[in-house]
Amino acid sequence: MKKNNFYITTPIYYPSGNPHMGHAYSSIFADVFARYMRNDNHKVYFLTGTDEHGLKIQKAAEKDGLEPLKYCDKLSKVFMDLTNQLNLSNDDFIRTTEKRHYKSVNDLWNRLEKSGDIYLSKYKGWYSVSDEAYYNEDEIIEKNGKKFSTFSGSPVEWVEEESFFFKLSNWTDKLLEFYYKNKNFILPVSRRNEVINFVKTGLKDLSISRTSFTWGIKVPNNAKHVIYVWLDALTNYLSALNFPDEKNNLYKDFWPASLHIIGKDILRFHAIYWPAFLLAAGIQPPKRVFGHGWILSGDEKMSKSKGNILNPIEIISTYGVDQLRYYLMKEVSHGSDGSISLKNLENCINSDLANNYGNLCQRIFSFVSNNCNGTIIKTLKESKSDLNLIKETQKLTKNLRTEMDTQNLNNYIKSVINISFLTNKYINDEEPWKLKKENIEKMNNILHLSLEQIAKISILLNPIIPLSTSKVLDALNIDKKSRNLSFLDGENILSKNVKINNLKILFKKII
Ligand code: MSP
Repeated sequence: MKKNNFYITTPIYYPSGNPHMGHAYSSIFADVFARYMRNDNHKVYFLTGTDEHGLKIQKAAEKDGLEPLKYCDKLSKVFMDLTNQLNLSNDDFIRTTEKRHYKSVNDLWNRLEKSGDIYLSKYKGWYSVSDEAYYNEDEIIEKNGKKFSTFSGSPVEWVEEESFFFKLSNWTDKLLEFYYKNKNFILPVSRRNEVINFVKTGLKDLSISRTSFTWGIKVPNNAKHVIYVWLDALTNYLSALNFPDEKNNLYKDFWPASLHIIGKDILRFHAIYWPAFLLAAGIQPPKRVFGHGWILSGDEKMSKSKGNILNPIEIISTYGVDQLRYYLMKEVSHGSDGSISLKNLENCINSDLANNYGNLCQRIFSFVSNNCNGTIIKTLKESKSDLNLIKETQKLTKNLRTEMDTQNLNNYIKSVINISFLTNKYINDEEPWKLKKENIEKMNNILHLSLEQIAKISILLNPIIPLSTSKVLDALNIDKKSRNLSFLDGENILSKNVKINNLKILFKKII
């Protein structure tokens, strides 16, 4: 059966400071799905990049004493480096200052103009530079004589200027109909409800150009205006597929996008503005927007302006990249907010990686290397306890695809790590080391099943901890093409005759 193509994106990052854990979290989350879908034999395109226009970037560049483009060249590079440091498997890295993007944004604007969804007027209202967002009067509070958004807590300023508007108000009912027809367009469900309740109150037309600064893409045929940075930025998802050339293979293969991974703070842009722009322009909207929660430090969102940042690069150099990836994906609940701390990170590395999965691999690999010359041949039928382990494993793997279909990665990891736990217990109960003299065939069978379990667990954990699991799969001599999820349909991974190589320690215990 032909598998669906899968186009997944991270938000493109504002290069207005150094990357922090929130950025790392969004990126790794998306990367796990890209890798998982590849392992499940889907054709995958995974995009990330940088969002380089708008007042926020212009101001950051001024502060740094650089021309905006020079500033973006410097900072975009830092985010590009981050993709390597986090071991992302992205197929492309888009910058919104690239020609291909300008072309795509211009075309989208022209389509919206042609469809009659754009008009010229004057914007009077609140604007937050750090969110690059407009807020209604009822979304503002005053503290110590200053005004802030109640939604994000960011400072807002009063803006009055000529602006083009998008007739978003016309899209209220059509969007609601779209959400009802496409039940899983916004996930998790709590975010879907949030959006629907907001849209139900009625949408106002949206200002989509600015005239009080210059750093952006000019409105076609009206250079006084620069296009609102969110209309510009969202279009990156199309630009990377060579839109407006709808006949090229990338666009044909991958649009509409399968999954936009974003943080909940930018849900409105992706779940309301984006489908409205696309529907108005006659382009199919994406299939899903998943809005994850925030990473908190204490009770607060981790962010540069709050100064409470845990630096992902420092953590990677101290603990390792798989360790950080595993911790963020396992311990931070993907739907809601989650606090992180070094203590929890260390506990998680010790309990799940070092003592559980790492220990399982190490004990079996070193036993097979030291006692069986690295070779195991299975000759017997499965014993009762073998069958029991196989059955329990099947129970735990049964729902894995469904969990991943709705981005329930927390449950997925819990199930997989539980398989590792059960396998360790099986080995403790069966005590293969006691059988070397009296029943070598039985010993080999136990070791063979243990290696089969290790292979399965490694393939399942591969999207999350790609470096360590690849070492294990290499040592099991499983070729790259066979590292897929077809065993979920009941197949075995290993042949009866297994030859392994030595395996070095995967995870050091943190003391
Ligand atoms: N440039 C926009 C995205 C445009 S997409 C067309 C933007 N950039 S950002 O750099 O500010 O944020 C990028 C992503 O990181 C967003 O999904 C945001 O939610 C996420 N995070 C930033 N801080 C975060 C946390 N503390 N926790 C989790 N994710 C958060 O928004």
